Amino acid sequence: MDERVAVALNVNGAARQMFVEPRKTLADALREDLALTGTHLGCEHGVCGACTVLLDGEAVRSCLMFAVQAEGAEVVTVEGLAAGPGQLSDVQQAMHECHGLQCGFCTPGFVVSITALLERDPDPDDAAIRDGLSGNLCRCTGYQGIVKAVRAVAASRQGAPS
Ligand code: FES
Ligand code: FES
Repeated sequence: MDERVAVALNVNGAARQMFVEPRKTLADALREDLALTGTHLGCEHGVCGACTVLLDGEAVRSCLMFAVQAEGAEVVTVEGLAAGPGQLSDVQQAMHECHGLQCGFCTPGFVVSITALLERDPDPDDAAIRDGLSGNLCRCTGYQGIVKAVRAVAASRQGAPS
């Protein structure tokens, strides 16, 4: 018997419908049903933050929730942050310019979390940046470039030279 259920939601600005098993995580549904593989899976139990997406504007770990829980929600993945194909959001551009990544596995989660952090706090100090990103783990960079990238975006949005 097919036990899949329909889930209607908005993903990256478009109405989408998925048919998923009730226990399927949002992360797996995004990757497997919608082919949005920018959402990475690391620990799959809420520790690393690689799977972070925006759910109704809040950063959430998509490995910790079922896809059916996203019924009616607005989801933004890393693929939906830039204005268009082939473009980078200012956060993505700053991560590139400030060497905020090495292997890149953690990067989608960081980019989404930084985006949410700067919505909450447009001008965070270093302590607030580190606290705001404490749910994201990076095994490569030592975090300095990531913090620098957040500062650069905050300064740029406020009109200061970064
Ligand atoms: S894969 Fe979701 S927090 Fe690590
Ligand atoms: S860049 Fe490799 S884990 Fe962060």
